[in-house]
Amino acid sequence: MIKIGILGSGKGSNCRAILQSIRDGRLRAKVAVVISDVLDAPILEIAREFGVPNAYLPPGHFRTRLEPKVEAQLVAMLQNAEVQIVVLAGFMRVLKEQMLAAFPRRIVNIHPSLLPKFPGLEAWKQALAANEKWTGVTVHYVDEQIDHGDVIAQRKVPVMSDDTAESLHARIQEVEHVLYPEALEQVFAQLRAA
Ligand code: GAR
Repeated sequence: MIKIGILGSGKGSNCRAILQSIRDGRLRAKVAVVISDVLDAPILEIAREFGVPNAYLPPGHFRTRLEPKVEAQLVAMLQNAEVQIVVLAGFMRVLKEQMLAAFPRRIVNIHPSLLPKFPGLEAWKQALAANEKWTGVTVHYVDEQIDHGDVIAQRKVPVMSDDTAESLHARIQEVEHVLYPEALEQVFAQLRAA
């Protein structure tokens, strides 16, 4: 069974969708550990609800990345859990060389836009501000740039004329919860075949 580690900073709805897909037999993998850089992030509660080992990783004093010694700790935690694929589910820090070297083409991210459009924070607000008629969701391999790397799967989401930031993000998240498990199954199938 392929072992994955999920990293997240927030409410964890994508983590829940992945755990539920595994429980329902739609996704064949085992979540070995869920790790968050935010002490009270709901994603850790979701891990507990599903009986998955979980940990808070104090990120250190940088705002957008982990302190190097913390990133080394993260690598060790994932390796100790025998994680083969690292799944980012709303993890709001940029991973650097240590993680990229430890898990080459083995880190996957989901982003709420049709990349390369609108990388960065609150991509749905960026799409609204740009008056887009369509936006979407991208699942991609992580490289050294922010919200960038080879695309695994993309799906379009319409922007309605009366959308608020909240209504658009909710529509995008519904698609995320379907697309992420599907895209991960694709990644796992490749790994099994390798
Ligand atoms: C998701 O919409 C995800 O695409 C986004 O954070 C949200 C996390 O929600 N990620 C990024 O913006 C990455 N740059 P969740 O905690 O409910 O899964």
